[in-house]
Amino acid sequence: MLSYRHAFHAGNFADVLKHVIQVQCLDYLLQKDKPIWYADTHAGAGGYALDSTEAQKNAEFQNGIGALWGKNNLAEPLQRYVDLVADFNQQARASSALKFYPGSPWFAQKLLREQDRLSLFELHPKEQALLKQNLGAQRRLKIFDNDGFKGLIAQLPPKERRGLVLIDPPYEVKEDYDTVVDTLVQAHKRFATGTYALWYPMVERRRINRLEKALVASGIRNIQLFELGLSDDTNGRGMTASGMVVINPPWTLNAQMKTLLPDLAQRLAGKAGCYRVETLCAE
Ligand SMILES: C[S@@+](CC[C@H](N)C(=O)[O-])C[C@H]1O[C@@H](n2cnc3c(N)ncnc32)[C@H](O)[C@@H]1O
Repeated sequence: MLSYRHAFHAGNFADVLKHVIQVQCLDYLLQKDKPIWYADTHAGAGGYALDSTEAQKNAEFQNGIGALWGKNNLAEPLQRYVDLVADFNQQARASSALKFYPGSPWFAQKLLREQDRLSLFELHPKEQALLKQNLGAQRRLKIFDNDGFKGLIAQLPPKERRGLVLIDPPYEVKEDYDTVVDTLVQAHKRFATGTYALWYPMVERRRINRLEKALVASGIRNIQLFELGLSDDTNGRGMTASGMVVINPPWTLNAQMKTLLPDLAQRLAGKAGCYRVETLCAE
C-alpha cells in the first residue's frame, strides 16, 4: 500500500520542525573535516512545487514555511533554514517568490561535501523518478528502491563511522510505530555513534506515549524529543502536532530548541501553538 504523497504536505509545520532539526544536525557534523554519511530511509521526491494541485489542496505550507517567508528577526537556526529554502527557489528560477519547497534529500545534498556520502531509500516509483530528477546524478549519492527500514540496517555500520540517519515514514500502516523503534534498536547496535532523527506525527497521544516508553526501555542513551503543535491534543482531529526524536544530538540542540520552539509555535499558530522539549534519556 503506497498511497502517501508528500506533495500534499510539503512545507507544512511538520516539515519546518523536521528540516530545521535536520539542518542543525548536519551543520554540527560538518564542523569537522572527516567525511560523514547521510541516510534518508523515506526520502520522498526531493522537491515540490507549491502551486501544484496536491500542494494547493489544503495549502498546508501556508502555516509552515509560508509563515516564515520574508519575515524579519528570525532566530539564527530558522533564518538558516529559510535561506536554504530560498536557495532552492532561486535554483528553480523562481526569483524571490516562494514557489517551491525542498525535501530532506535536497537539504542534505546541498550541505554535504565531496568527501561525504548519501544513501536515499524511496519505495514509490513516481517519487523515486522525481527524486532522481530533482537531485541529478552525483558520484557521492545513491538512491535505493527497496524498503528503507531494512535497507538502512543492511548498510550499517557505515565506513565513515559518523553521520545522520533520518527516519521519516508516512505511518500509513500502524505497524510503523513499532517498526521505527525496532529499526532504531537494531541500527544503534551496529552504529552506536550515529545521530538518528526520527519524525513522528501526533495524531493519537497514546501511540506517542507508547513510542516514548519503548525508546526509554530500549537501553539507548542520549535521546532528546522536540515537538511542535498547532493546537493541543484534545481537539482530536487529524495531526495536531509532530515531533522529532533525536539520538546522539548535537550538544547545542536542546538549548537551541528551548529558545526556538516557543517562538516558532507562536509564529505558526499564535496562542494555540504548543511545544515540548524532553530528555527521554540522558547521556
Ligand atoms: C513523509 S515522506 C518523506 C518526506 C521526506 N523525508 C522529506 O522530508 O522531504 C515518506 C516517503 O516514504 C516513502 N515510503 C513509504 N514506505 C517506504 C518504505 N518502507 N521504504 C522507503 N520508502 C517508503 C513514501 O513513498 C514517501 O515518499
